[in-house]
Amino acid sequence: MATKTVQPIHGGLRGTIRIPGDKSISHRAVMFGALAEGTTTIEGFLAGEDCLSTIACFQKLGVEIVQEGEKVTVHGKGWKGLEEPAEILDVGNSGTTTRLMLGILATQPFHSVVIGDDSIGKRPMKRVTVPLREMGAQIDGRDDGNFTPLSVRGGQTKGISFQSKVASAQVKSAILLAGLQSEGTTSVIEPALSRDHTERMLEAFGVEVKRDGLTVSVKGGQVLKARHVVVPGDISSAAFFLVAGAITPNSKLTLTNVGLNPTRSGVIDVLQQMGASLQIENERLEGGEPVADLTIETSTLHGTEIGGELIPRLIDEIPVLAVLATQAKGRTVIKDAEELKVKETNRIDTVVSELTKLGATIQATDDGMIIEGPTTLSGGVVQSFGDHRIGMAMAIAGLVASDSVQVERSEAISVSYPTFFDDINKLSEK
Ligand code: S3P
Repeated sequence: MATKTVQPIHGGLRGTIRIPGDKSISHRAVMFGALAEGTTTIEGFLAGEDCLSTIACFQKLGVEIVQEGEKVTVHGKGWKGLEEPAEILDVGNSGTTTRLMLGILATQPFHSVVIGDDSIGKRPMKRVTVPLREMGAQIDGRDDGNFTPLSVRGGQTKGISFQSKVASAQVKSAILLAGLQSEGTTSVIEPALSRDHTERMLEAFGVEVKRDGLTVSVKGGQVLKARHVVVPGDISSAAFFLVAGAITPNSKLTLTNVGLNPTRSGVIDVLQQMGASLQIENERLEGGEPVADLTIETSTLHGTEIGGELIPRLIDEIPVLAVLATQAKGRTVIKDAEELKVKETNRIDTVVSELTKLGATIQATDDGMIIEGPTTLSGGVVQSFGDHRIGMAMAIAGLVASDSVQVERSEAISVSYPTFFDDINKLSEK
């Protein structure tokens, strides 16, 4: 297990970095490419461990996939071309691989077993296995199919109309993917809009997707057609440097290639709400997704309230927004964010425990946290608990701490941002 020491930065973070590919979109590009007829080429792919797990799983399902850095070629086999895997499908740390793949496996006339790491073994899967069973799949696992290892025997499924209790793109996507091979129409109704990359990319692969407010529907029997996919940079990765730029003295940095899909860009709203000096330039559309370059400078920040429909638009950014709030004047309240408890770690607990170790004034609540600022954070030893976003959030805290911060289990960061520390170094070089 690795420990990374982060030194406080006095001379500021300056310069430009290009944000690596979006994790959610990279997963989908591989999966949809595998299900499509023809050859899909992907550029800007995120070669992080999670997306490599997706590639490995689909290779075990008989799909030829060639990955060279950010370029991937997927030799699609169509819905009928997947093969019964001879080995267990190992999703590693990836919830997106688990849940979306379960939706696909539910429709396949063969048996498969899905397993992941310790963290995956604690994440609730009934939110997908229950509706997929209702559609006709046989799925079993610990706690009545709630936890991996999960065993799936798929087959002919039928469309359902599913009212999801949580705003989750993984749930929505799993059911819609199963719906594409089911009899009739499948609809998912969400309590609030979750990220819509599946809907956008399915359309780009030639599938008809009906969207009506919080309801998304697909008809069964639709074919995906291979295409070229350009993956924009991941706003969830950019968020670490947006916060770093705003809170580190003497900073001005530019992040290029940042995906600004409105279902993901809540962090921008919050930064602006808190008074950050942020410029959005060169706005363009790439592969059906809005993209821009962002410049952020050291800012005078004030506390805010983050809740309601904003939560699904920034759920993965909450650990680093908590770090931001420690440097803002006044109180920041994060609420309606119970979903944090079922991420790679219970992120209410892990954010609060680790920031407390650095001297932050932060308190856990049932559905979020309350932070009082500004606080001069102290140095110390913190850890990621194997959660990439906790590791990165603590490293960003280390940039403004009064002494060095050691981040234990820092290897977890390669799940979504293998070049994270290289980018910190680039921006702090004089
Ligand atoms: C993701 C959806 C979100 C997010 C995760 C990626 C996706 O999870 O937190 O990092 O790619 O669909 P939920 O669907 O559980 O909200």
